[in-house]
Formats: sequence, structure tokens, C-alpha cells
Amino acid sequence: MPNYRFPEDFYWGTATASFQIEGATQEDGRGESIWDRFASQPGKIIGGDTGDPACYSYRLYPRDIRLMQQLGVNAYRFSIAWPRVIPRGTGDVNPAGLDYYERLVDALLEVDITPFVTLYHWDLPQALQERGGWANRETIDAYVHYTDIVASRLGDRVKTWMTHNEPWCIAFLGHLTGEHAPGLQDRKMALQVAHNVLVSHGDAVLVIRDRVPDARVGMVLNFSPGYPATDTEADRVATDLHHEKFNRWFLDPIVGRGYPPLAWEAYGDDVPEVLVADAERMAPPIDFLGVNYYSRQVVHDPGSGGGKVLYARDNDNVTDRDWEIYPQGLRDLLVWLNQDYDFPTLYVSENGAAYKDELTADGRVHDPKRVDYIRQHLAMILQALDEGVPVKGYFYWTLADNFEWAFGTSSRFGLAYTQFETQERILKDSAHWYGHVTRANAL
Ligand code: FCB
Repeated sequence: MPNYRFPEDFYWGTATASFQIEGATQEDGRGESIWDRFASQPGKIIGGDTGDPACYSYRLYPRDIRLMQQLGVNAYRFSIAWPRVIPRGTGDVNPAGLDYYERLVDALLEVDITPFVTLYHWDLPQALQERGGWANRETIDAYVHYTDIVASRLGDRVKTWMTHNEPWCIAFLGHLTGEHAPGLQDRKMALQVAHNVLVSHGDAVLVIRDRVPDARVGMVLNFSPGYPATDTEADRVATDLHHEKFNRWFLDPIVGRGYPPLAWEAYGDDVPEVLVADAERMAPPIDFLGVNYYSRQVVHDPGSGGGKVLYARDNDNVTDRDWEIYPQGLRDLLVWLNQDYDFPTLYVSENGAAYKDELTADGRVHDPKRVDYIRQHLAMILQALDEGVPVKGYFYWTLADNFEWAFGTSSRFGLAYTQFETQERILKDSAHWYGHVTRANAL
């Protein structure tokens, strides 16, 4: 009889990010972020959406918390907006910004929801971008100072800290493809950004431990496990390279293994400038790894014997973002992480699906595909647990439809449907279903 129950101390949560939900970009002394600047440029965001109003959670966070209570979750992963706390990135602290996060944390604790705080989920103060942003090593120091300010203020109540969200996206979507803020396209810079972010992670871990002795500190990485398209040597090699570039490039340095060799060589002159002390700085021990998983990558080398392989496009098996639904990838990823690395705890810190949800005449949102998506991924977590992987929490992305980066409000990932005009949030069918799962602590 398979075990459908989750461990007793399992964290059930949802995840959000400051820029995607808060709105209020000009209120109470918040500074400009690179996402404000980016979204203000024509053509960058579908529909011309901006960070306002998003979900206006800066004022409406009690609504968010009520939703969480309806979902029966016991954890909430959210991020802090650096420009709300230190509007120009360095220098003056904005007390109203810190007050906001304190109110939010207190309101969560009041109803027994554990805060999981992400310090950086992409909204860099624009003033720092003007001095080179993450490509400039001075941003490392600015980030560590910002971390110090936040940890010192919230550390008596917040015990779980995530330094960064998805450095891969920061580096490559922001500085190589330019789809994300700051919208640059320069591979060498992207790799330097990745490196500087990883160094800042290491420094921040030390600061948090110093300010919050009982803190549990980790980082959140996005993974896309690779699978060779055909059973050829060329596709296998290409898959290994994908794996190093996408997954291990960010993971190996923070566990003290340095950058993976195939990828280092493939990047040629674009590899980052690394100072002697960096290898150690990037790799202080951490308490957990946050694992974001959405989809896999089928890897094909055009020169391989398999001919041209079109990535399987089975319309029933992709989300609205055209991401293949491949739950098995989550199990494979977790098992690999557990076998090859030694994290005491893994959290699935993001997993979710966007669909073209509609509010129907009965006042509901019927999203059976999202239910299937979550169910299948949770089943894989159960399998990984059976195989001895220490998965200790699941955070659905996301609580309510929000500002989904370059896709604006057009890409709905929420368990709740957001009516952006009225700021009403309506629980989708998947939310009711998820509530049963969290309360039963079982699938
Ligand atoms: C992740 C991001 C998150 C959200 C989801 C869909 O890459 O961390 O903010 O956009 O994708």
C-alpha cells in the first residue's frame, strides 16, 4: 500500500514575490526598481502592464492572508522589495518599508502561518543599476547591507531566510536574452552577474547567521533537468552541457565545488572574473535548498544521428506558457539532488501552472488542469520521500494571479483568480482542492 501521507511537520505553502503582488510602487517612500523602469518601456510587457496595481498587496495583504487561511496552508513564501527598504539601494533606510514587512510578518504569525522570506526576487533598486547593477561588485556590498537591515529588524520573528530567487533568471533573462529587467543582452555580463549574485549569497548567509543565530538559511534555484532527445552520444553530451549550464552552474559553486568544467570551457572568454577568495565566499554551509521546478528540457544536438527532433508538442501536455508538463522530472531532480549533494532539507519552493482561467457565470473558476498538475507533482514528491529524499515543504506558485513579469497580467498561475479592476480574489476550484490536501496532509 503506497504512502499517501506527507510527514507531520511538512510545510504547505504558496509563494509570491514583492514586485509581482505589492503594487503601490510610488507609495510611502518606495524607490524605483529596475522592474518599474523596464515595465515603463513600450513593448516590454504584454498588454503594457506595470507593477501597478498588481494585487495591491501592499495595502490588501489582509486579503491575501485570508486566502491563505482558506487554503489551510501553514507557510507563506514572499519576498522583500529592496527599494521599499532602502530606496536608492544604499544610504537612507525607509522606515515605512520595514514597517510594512513587520505588519505582514506579524499578521502571518498571528494566524500560525510561518514566513519564508526571500531577500531578493529581482527588484533591484534602479539607482544601483545606474552604477552597473549586479555586474558591479559594489552591489554585493549593498545587498549585504540591505540584508543586515532586514534581518536585524525581522529576525526575532522570521527564522527561514532565502537569499536569492533563481540566479539563472537574474543573470540570463535579465542580461542575455533581455526579456527581464534590466533588459540587457551581453553574455559575458550575464555570467559576471551570476557570479556576483552567488558571492553575495555567501556573504548574506554569514550576516543572517550573525544577526539571527537560530535562523535557517538557504537559496532558491530553478532547475530544468535535461533528457537526451535521442539515444545518441551527441545528444548525451549536449544534455550534460545543458545540465552544467542550467543546473550545476549555480549549484556547484554554493556547495564549494566551483564551476562545472564542461560549461566553463564552453563559455570561453565569457567566463566571469573570479577573485581568489570567491570560491570560499560563495560556499558557506546552508540549511536547505529551495527547488523551483516547472518543466524539463529535452536536449538535442542538431549534429546527432537522430536527425531533427521537434520537441514533443502534445497540446494536452503543456501549460498555457507552453511549458511541458513532466512531473517525473521533479522526482528525478529531487533524487539527483539528494544523491549527489548533501542538503539536510529540500523545499519545493515553487511549482505551478498557468492556464487561461475564466470566471464563469456560476461565479467560479473551473481549472481541472491545474488540479491535475499539482496532484501529479505532489505524487512525485511522495515518491521522492519514499526514496529517502528530505523534502520538507511544497509552495505552490502562486497564491493569486499577479504581475507575471514580461507576461504581465495575461499569465494566470494563481490558486485564486484576481479581478485586477476590483482587486477581488476568487478561489479557483484548484484552491478548494488544495485546501483539502493541506488539511488532510495527504494526497
Ligand atoms: C519563476 C519565478 C516566479 C514566477 C514563476 C512563474 O521563475 O521565480 O517569480 O514568475 O517563475
